[in-house]
Amino acid sequence: MTKKRNFIPLMLVAATAAAMGLGAALAQADKPKADPMQFARGAKAWAKNCARCHNMRSAQDNSDEEWHVDIAHMRVRANIPGDVARDIKAFLQASNN
Ligand code: HEC
Repeated sequence: MTKKRNFIPLMLVAATAAAMGLGAALAQADKPKADPMQFARGAKAWAKNCARCHNMRSAQDNSDEEWHVDIAHMRVRANIPGDVARDIKAFLQASNN
């Protein structure tokens, strides 16, 4: 009997894990495409600004969340205007997968 009682919670765990996996896959698929003009402006601004003080960091180095934080940090460090920083962030987040 103990065997049967353990079976249901295990099924729930498996089902929850499967649902979470599906959620992650959907979130990835739903990642909005960058506006092409913003992407182009961001690529240009990245090339112009982001190798001034250190080697260029590849977009691949960071997740979207990490770029969110790093751009906020670098925006202050490098005194980059907000609109330019947003363009660079959009470019990096669209190029890291
Ligand atoms: C004014 C100089 C300067 C410019 C311009 C600059 N950085 Fe940085 N960056 C730094 C310094 C200094 C560090 C080391 C961390 C610190 O002390 O702030 C750093 C660190 C980093 C890091 C490591 C993670 C972190 O946040 O510490 C990343 C990623 C990064 N920079 C990306 C960029 C990108 C992308 C740009 C263009 C938007 C950029 N940097 C422009 C000075 C600069």
